[in-house]
Amino acid sequence: CGIIGCAGRQGETLDVLVHGLSKLEYRGYDSAGVALATDDIDVCKTAGEIDDLRDALSERELSGTVGIGHTRWSTHGPPTDENAHPHRDCLGEVAVVHNGIIENYQSLRDQLSTAGHEFRSDTDTEVVPHLIEDELADGAAPEEAVREAIAHLEGSYAVAAVIAGEDTIFAARNDSPLVLGIDDDAYYLASDVPAFRDHTDRVIYMDDGEFAAIDADGWTVTTLAGEPVDKDVDTVDWDPEETGKSGYDHFMLKEIHEQPRALRQCLRGRVGELTGEVDLGDLGDLTPRAVQFVACGTSYHAALYATQLFQQAGIPAQAFLASEYTTSTPPIGDALVVGVTQSGETADTLSALREARRRGARTLAVTNTVGSTAARECDHALYIRAGPEIGVAATKTFASQLAALNLLTLGITSVDDDREVISGLRDLPSAVQEILDDSVAREVAETYRDAESYFFIGRGLNYPVALEGALKMKEITYKHAEGFAAGELKHGPLALVTENTPVFATVTGDDEMARKTIGNVKEVEARDAPVVAVTDGESDVERYADHVLEVPDTHPRVAAVVANVQLQLVAYHTANMLGRSIDKPRNLAKSVTVE
Ligand code: G6P
Repeated sequence: CGIIGCAGRQGETLDVLVHGLSKLEYRGYDSAGVALATDDIDVCKTAGEIDDLRDALSERELSGTVGIGHTRWSTHGPPTDENAHPHRDCLGEVAVVHNGIIENYQSLRDQLSTAGHEFRSDTDTEVVPHLIEDELADGAAPEEAVREAIAHLEGSYAVAAVIAGEDTIFAARNDSPLVLGIDDDAYYLASDVPAFRDHTDRVIYMDDGEFAAIDADGWTVTTLAGEPVDKDVDTVDWDPEETGKSGYDHFMLKEIHEQPRALRQCLRGRVGELTGEVDLGDLGDLTPRAVQFVACGTSYHAALYATQLFQQAGIPAQAFLASEYTTSTPPIGDALVVGVTQSGETADTLSALREARRRGARTLAVTNTVGSTAARECDHALYIRAGPEIGVAATKTFASQLAALNLLTLGITSVDDDREVISGLRDLPSAVQEILDDSVAREVAETYRDAESYFFIGRGLNYPVALEGALKMKEITYKHAEGFAAGELKHGPLALVTENTPVFATVTGDDEMARKTIGNVKEVEARDAPVVAVTDGESDVERYADHVLEVPDTHPRVAAVVANVQLQLVAYHTANMLGRSIDKPRNLAKSVTVE
């Protein structure tokens, strides 16, 4: 879900809004709409994609100097035209877009209904224009009316409102991202920078409890109560080109191919060429006795990988699914709590980090998004520098998270083979490039495109890789896929294994762990399941495999990161052959800002 607003682009407002919404598509959505304000408010909104909105707009004449737009990802009520934003009041003089969840909407709606307001949608958002309408009816000036209305809201919101006859957009934020874009003669607001990055690189990140007003002449940011707030104007340094597909069929494929560059960016300047020392800049003094990771989805798999790195370095570490962390927060003691979150906006992760802070923990965000809520709220931030990721299924950000988490471990611990790890990390971008150049993942995908289920196994650092391989597969192919710790296979999942369930076994190195995994491979082979070995050829797993996806010979830590790229490609090609909506899988969102 995403918000865009624009003031000062006379005659072009509608185009700017629709273009902005298309740039926010990556966040996932199921309906879209815009509102323009002149003496009236014109609204056009529809369930479906931005192209459906464009079709609807082609039959309408909308004009106005200021406007707001929205892509909705359903939380209250199904994706219908009525439930799409913007929402209006009874008179149709106020239009509002909103991200987040208004927790007290039911009681507000009951009060407003009793007072005669009629509602057209099932959404929580619709109470906002009605509240503003009430304030206006009571004689409040427009800006005051919006402030008063927002003061009634409990929950999380980024809200933007326009009012008939007003050339100002009013906006407020609490627990949901909102950023202003500053140009010489035009001003923007959005839930994320790509929405207006084609027009300006100057931004103001709003904080919780702040209220903004933009018009053709400028911007103001105050507290909700109206106290002025000093805001910095930052410059974002990434290029709008980076958010285009550059000739690839899908953003996901482009992002898989961007991994060598993303990894180089992550490592650049952080690993001393000569000294082999890791320098994490202003991360400060982090010498934790223990580490707790909180994360969701793919980032959780990166967290699982990181716990092993810390444990190997003698620091107790645990990974928690962020959504479970708050249900029974473990004792924190002297632990550093690390939120691993690509977007920095995942509500579950933010709330786990807040809980940790409430209990006195120091917190660190490992994130891709400078200025994100996680980055700003945590005591420290470590940026993974992957560049914007548009495909809903995380790929390059996962690789960069693993690289950054390696740096983090090296930066705050010291183990005997530090130098080998560092040299392995230096080889990482070229090892990934080798896979991108030579992978036979497409053939493997072709062979198994009609399989009933896909299983992924691995041990040690290859266990999170198995989980991630399965997650990618299910996210974008819509087919059943599961990842298991190789040793667990015999404790249940083996009952599922048949000749129609290919098993992808990631086996790197030739140690005890590899030998045990090969034992598990033999177990599935004996049950006629096809085996795909993802391997560096060190062990003899190939003997038991029907297909081999090769991994260059690298440091074991790095091997897991590289092996994962083969599994990304298998998932991608399978989904592509099945004709799936790869960049925007059904029911999923890039950034889930509700708990
Ligand atoms: C959503 C996305 C996943 C992602 C997860 C965590 O569920 O669909 O791909 O891994 O959020 O996102 P984060 O931004 O916190 O890493």
